[in-house]
Amino acid sequence: MVTRETARHLVLIGLMGAGKSTVGGACAQRLGRPFVDTDRVVEAITGQTVAEIFTNGGEAAFRSLEHQAVADACASPEPLVISCGGGAVLDPENRRQMRASGTVVWLRAAPQVLADRVNPNLADRPLLPSSGARDELARLAELRGAAYEGAAHVTVDTDDRSLEEVVDAVLEELVRCPS
Ligand code: S3P
Repeated sequence: MVTRETARHLVLIGLMGAGKSTVGGACAQRLGRPFVDTDRVVEAITGQTVAEIFTNGGEAAFRSLEHQAVADACASPEPLVISCGGGAVLDPENRRQMRASGTVVWLRAAPQVLADRVNPNLADRPLLPSSGARDELARLAELRGAAYEGAAHVTVDTDDRSLEEVVDAVLEELVRCPS
């Protein structure tokens, strides 16, 4: 139960499969706030899927669009729940804007748990191989750990927790740590 409102955004970060979109949608519903998923914003603006953008323009083109989507969401005067694509934290300016405008929650999970969650959706995730997703997620976790740590105000572990339990934990952190 959220007992104290904060005017700041709730920003969810973490690797692919961390549950950012599902948890974000549920948190938005509980808070009565709009939900913004930066991947979906980029897709709506370009009329292409994330995978198509990677194929047509490469990762750099995607990162540039993602940067704009993060900046626009963070600049919203209305408090939002924002789910950031897994690599958005790699850009220091993205990290700065997230932290300045929101409470940033890192949804963390073990590589095998992440791999189990993303496996049915591999076609949507151009950075993951069709087999061996676990190993690539473990490599990305190692590579990006410092960026997630640097961006996050708090961390919520999602291994062995139901959606409801994760949503409760995130909303508790939002009250405890408004900035
Ligand atoms: C990416 C994560 C994806 C998407 C793109 C790149 C990444 O978002 O932005 O495929 O670099 O980790 P999700 O984390 O929502 O799957």
